[in-house]
Amino acid sequence: MSAAHWVEPVDVRVVAGTAEALFRGTFGGAADGVWAAPGRVNLIGEHVDYAGGLVLPFALPYVTVVAVRVRGDGILHAVSTHTDESWQGPLADVAPGHPAGWAAYVAGVVWALRRSGHLPAETGFDVAVHSTVPVGSGLSSSAALECAFALAVADLAGLPTDHAGRRPLIAASILAENEIAGASTGGMDQSVAMLARPGHAVLLDCRDGATRQVPLDFDSAGARLVVIDTNAPHRLVDGQYGNRRAAVEKACADLGVATLRDVPDPDAAVAALGSPAAARARHVLTEIRRVTEVAGLLDRGRIADIGDALNRSHASLRDDYEVSSVELDSAVDAALAAGAWGARMTGGGFGGSAIALVPADRVDAVAENVVRRAESATLPTPQFLSAEPSGSAHRL
Ligand code: GLA
Repeated sequence: MSAAHWVEPVDVRVVAGTAEALFRGTFGGAADGVWAAPGRVNLIGEHVDYAGGLVLPFALPYVTVVAVRVRGDGILHAVSTHTDESWQGPLADVAPGHPAGWAAYVAGVVWALRRSGHLPAETGFDVAVHSTVPVGSGLSSSAALECAFALAVADLAGLPTDHAGRRPLIAASILAENEIAGASTGGMDQSVAMLARPGHAVLLDCRDGATRQVPLDFDSAGARLVVIDTNAPHRLVDGQYGNRRAAVEKACADLGVATLRDVPDPDAAVAALGSPAAARARHVLTEIRRVTEVAGLLDRGRIADIGDALNRSHASLRDDYEVSSVELDSAVDAALAAGAWGARMTGGGFGGSAIALVPADRVDAVAENVVRRAESATLPTPQFLSAEPSGSAHRL
């Protein structure tokens, strides 16, 4: 009997039922429709999306659901099962920092779509939210909320929602997060929430937006990808993330390139930079190479062989980019000690989640060792999620 706590995915129709019940209880009557979008993990390609790099995330079977009804008075009224803090106000008043908190992700999407001329000014919405993506775990609960709602707004406004139609919705979701919520994130999370396919990771080229679906079948390799939520909250708005992004932009300016991806000679570029810029750039440049390496292995069905690249990614994030944490390092070390083929922090870092690629028969041993190691160091007790590559945002 495992002492580790597993958070099992809930059927999306059950999640939807809870959102619909909240909607009826708050607003009376039925919603016009219900939409879902997934959380994500990034297999590899960390802190490179804002550097024009390559990333390889996939969608999780944990979703955020929105039940939505159009209103004609330009007002947004948003409620959630996760908090008593609802938000109601004119969409015309939405601006950077207003609303604050979770409602920024909803209001910001409308603000962005209005700004790009996709939505008339009198359109308003009643919205009820329910989610099984753990909040503050670095699994992109905010992108899931933005993307579920962006798809809802597009559907209700008669905008296209096919692959091409999703591009402006991804852009609006990123703008909402950057401008209204004030988190200067790079766009990987919104892209995967909108473009993921079951059984695949999305290889996303953040320089030109090109995507390729890479097959990712853990079962066929006798493997499981375990998500370890350290339960040490991860915060994107507290300055460290923006600080790293600014360091990368400064390095680009010093090197005279538009993105670090455009550097012709990575070794010479690193040598030309001072400390800590050189280490930051070295992380970005080596991480982009590791993404190509992992995508190549996956194309050849060699899942069990990607562990070493995951480990090098973690070391680079910990030592060169300095975005790991005691909790993440503990989880990674304990997973490897108990037989994982590879492990790394995933997402923005400074807390949040790690992933471990584990032979199927070692899953319980790995989870137990991660818990034991955390508890003996008096760190928060981690919880575990299953990482079956899942589908993108959709209407139910
Ligand atoms: C967060 C951001 C992403 C990305 C990752 C780090 O998840 O939202 O844009 O930068 O951190 O890879």
